[in-house]
Amino acid sequence: MACKGSAVRDRLAPHLNTGIMNITDKYERKLRDLRISVTDKCNFRCTYCMPKEIYNSNYKFLKRTEILSFEEIIKLSNIFSSMGVKKIRLTGGEPLLRKNIHVLINYLKDIKNIDDISMTTNGVLLSEKKAVLLKDSGLNRLTVSLDSLDPNKFSTISGSKYSPENVLQGINNARKAGFDNIKINMVIKKNVNHKDIIPMLEKFQGTGCIVRFIEFMDVGNVNLWSKKDVLSLDDILSIISEKYHINSLEKNYSSEVAKRWSYDGGEFGIISSISNPFCGDCSRLRLTAEGKIFTCLFANNSYDIKNLLRTSKSDYDIKQFLTNMWTNRDDKYSENRLSNNNYKIIKKAEMSYIGG
Ligand code: GTP
Ligand code: 5AD
Ligand code: SF4
Ligand code: SF4
Repeated sequence: MACKGSAVRDRLAPHLNTGIMNITDKYERKLRDLRISVTDKCNFRCTYCMPKEIYNSNYKFLKRTEILSFEEIIKLSNIFSSMGVKKIRLTGGEPLLRKNIHVLINYLKDIKNIDDISMTTNGVLLSEKKAVLLKDSGLNRLTVSLDSLDPNKFSTISGSKYSPENVLQGINNARKAGFDNIKINMVIKKNVNHKDIIPMLEKFQGTGCIVRFIEFMDVGNVNLWSKKDVLSLDDILSIISEKYHINSLEKNYSSEVAKRWSYDGGEFGIISSISNPFCGDCSRLRLTAEGKIFTCLFANNSYDIKNLLRTSKSDYDIKQFLTNMWTNRDDKYSENRLSNNNYKIIKKAEMSYIGG
């Protein structure tokens, strides 16, 4: 792309620069956060996300032409920002597999009203050079997934050739590049890695990194989710409070998914979509690499925005379409699942496709 900043904004979304809309859905929830999956590919095969039995050489990943270009993502992000979106999180698969992702970030950061750009990554591609490129491009925050510090367990869970050391190196490179308060996501499965909770907390004690323990969720259809494998928020808290004195902290912002606590040497979080859902404040929209929009992580239907983009619809038409979509939104899957054991959505999108 040849031009920058407001010039790009004007070219890719020429008449959206007037006032910001504050649309709400059927439960009065505002649209604030956009999660963009930039690729469905990953260099890991986490058992709970991309099991090897399914994501093998026969699996058909999206083709290059099926994936939204940077220009298309920027154009949509401009439209979303004019509808109230303030935060963008880049996800995957593994977002660092998308070539020149720092170039995309560089354009996204210039969009009016976008005040936070973050990324969720498995961390192993965070070389010194990449970390600096990301920082310089305007990425504000990084979250790194790490499920165990034990090399054998890590290898089994991640289904990859990498080791925890590779992830820790990536985290160090990011810290050196100037990323503060990096979040560490640890998905907990009972009897798989729940004994690693304290070691993980202690590994990052005093580093400024914030570990978040995530209840294993029933995303998608391939991870054979069972409630028996979930270690709940209460269970996690009792493990930690056996060793540490903990204090609950206020949320940083209303739609934050993690509950927060302080303990000696820092802060940790728990994301408890199973035992304590947070649909009430959910201001998140998900855009897949293929240009489908999901109004909920667990939705079984999506909206095809790529089709609109590629059939030369005007920005005005696209904005109308998206406004109707959000206005009609009534998702609250996790709350429904909690209040009704029989509540089921048969065909859900997979995590690596929808981006978490
Ligand atoms: P920040 O709060 O901005 O740092 O981001 P985040 O914690 O929402 O992002 P991240 O990608 O690290 O997600 C953490 C965990 O929360 C992942 O397991 C996500 O799948 C999960 N998550 C994020 N948003 C939602 C949501 O709307 N619903 C549910 N059920 N889970 C979510
Ligand atoms: N349950 C909870 N968290 C999950 N993640 C991936 N699959 C699941 C699941 N089934 C996490 C990843 C990453 C984030 C985007 O979501 O580990 O940190
Ligand atoms: Fe890749 Fe993240 Fe899925 Fe693991 S959880 S397979 S790192 S996208
Ligand atoms: Fe939002 Fe759906 Fe998650 Fe509830 S389950 S918090 S509505 S994405």
